[in-house]
Amino acid sequence: MKKKEANTYKKITTHVLQEMKLKSEKIAMLTAYDFSMAGLLDMAGIDVILVGDSASNVMAGYTTTLPITLDQMIYHASSVMRAVKRALVVVDLPFGTYQGNSKEALNSAIRIMKESGANAIKMEGGREIIESVDRILSAGIPVMGHLGLTPQSIHKFGTYVVRATEETEAQNLIEDAHVLEESGCFGLVLEKIPANLATQVTGEIKIPTIGIGAGSGVDGQVLVLHDMLGITQKFSPRFLRRYHNLNEEIQGSVKAYIQDVKAMNFPNEREQY
Ligand code: KIV
Repeated sequence: MKKKEANTYKKITTHVLQEMKLKSEKIAMLTAYDFSMAGLLDMAGIDVILVGDSASNVMAGYTTTLPITLDQMIYHASSVMRAVKRALVVVDLPFGTYQGNSKEALNSAIRIMKESGANAIKMEGGREIIESVDRILSAGIPVMGHLGLTPQSIHKFGTYVVRATEETEAQNLIEDAHVLEESGCFGLVLEKIPANLATQVTGEIKIPTIGIGAGSGVDGQVLVLHDMLGITQKFSPRFLRRYHNLNEEIQGSVKAYIQDVKAMNFPNEREQY
């Protein structure tokens, strides 16, 4: 079979991601929460867009991901879906909508799929949420897992430091990864864990792993859009590479606009009727 070049896939599906892993083609994933940004990411050729519950931080200004609601996630996801033609769109199930019982989890997942038109959902946790994962999968909804630093459990962890540095937690994470794979998850986010552990998990399971702060031995990478574009300034973990300083650029443009308005330089003759 002729080898497909990177980025020639017309539409990214969960099957394409599997194919990419088999061909050792890295998967590029970013978050987006609105129509305009999602459209830009899609046009640039991003493989996966995550409508992350990090919207709680970067869109709503909360310090954790816990407050965002299912209705709010559906609003963000449907805005993204109206822009996206090619990327696979994955939506986070927000805190409190799936941990309690698997029926509620299924209802939450169905609402996201029906009301936003998204392609898949993501859930944080391993064996402790497996009943919910199974139920959602059996309804035909693709599920992505998320292990390591799972921000919805921040009050249990008490800190955002690297997870699974100790043997017991690392072994638990490996077992969870296998359980999620066996249940039928199509992919797995590994957040803020040692690079050698992420590499080991990636080698042991057949579904693609997407890392954030998990080194280069994973099948793909994800970053929060506002962090990599330099809109957020205070959040500066070691794993974050800033590709732009939009904070400075936006402030500069807004200051120039204010000056022009105050000095009556805007609008000029050509900018009026
Ligand atoms: O909500 C989010 O943005 C995420 C990524 C950090 C993986 O879950």
